[in-house]
Amino acid sequence: MPFTIAIDGPAASGKGTIARALAARFGFAHLDTGLLYRAVGAKGGDPAQAAQTLSGADLARTDLRSNEAGQAASRVAAIPEVRAALVAFQRAFAAQEPGAVLDGRDIGTVICPDAALKIYVIASDETRALRRAAEIGADPAATLAALRERDARDAGRDAAPLRPADDAIIIDTTDLSIPEAIERAAALVEARIRPSSAPKYSAPPA
Ligand code: DC
Repeated sequence: MPFTIAIDGPAASGKGTIARALAARFGFAHLDTGLLYRAVGAKGGDPAQAAQTLSGADLARTDLRSNEAGQAASRVAAIPEVRAALVAFQRAFAAQEPGAVLDGRDIGTVICPDAALKIYVIASDETRALRRAAEIGADPAATLAALRERDARDAGRDAAPLRPADDAIIIDTTDLSIPEAIERAAALVEARIRPSSAPKYSAPPA
C-alpha cells in the first residue's frame, strides 16, 4: 500500500516547503496541486477545457508564482468542472509506490480521504504575507490583501472548500523556523510509519 501524505492549508502557510522536505526525506513523490490550478488560470479560454487539456508545458510556465496567477487560480478553482477534470490525475499520482506527498486545499477532504497522514498547516496572515512577498519580490501590504481575498474565496466556495479534514493534525508555523516545522511534520510521519516511535516533541499548552 502506498503511503500518502495530504498537506492542506491556506496560501503561504508553509505547506509546500514541508511537503517538499518530507518527500525528499522519505523518498516519496511530491505534487504541488496549486500549480495545476495556477496553470489552468494562466492558460485562459474556457477554464474547464483548459483543465481537461492541461499539459506538461502548461505546468512548466515561469509566470505561475505571481499574486495575479494565484488570484486567477483561486477563481478557476471554484468551478466544479475544473476540479472534476483534475481529480483522476491527482489520485493516480497519490497511488504511486512507495508513497506520495500532495499539498493543496482539498487533499485530505476530497482527493485522498484515506491518506495515511493528514496535516493542515496554518500561520498568521501577517507572517504568511511577509514570507510570500519576500519569495516573489512583491509589496507586503498588497500581498496580505491578495492572500486574504484568496483565502476567503477558497474557504467560501461550495466545491471542495479549504478546511481541515476531521482527522488532520494542525501545525501552526507562525513561530517556527523552517527546520522546526519540517521536524514536527517528519516526526508525525515517523510515528505513522513506525508506530512505536512516538513524536519527539510535545504539543505546547493551549
Ligand atoms: O497553493 P497555491 O497558492 O499555489 O494555490 C493556488 C490556488 O489554487 C488557491 O488559491 C486555490 C487553488 N487550489 C485549490 O483550490 N485546490 C488545491 N488542491 C490547490 C490549490
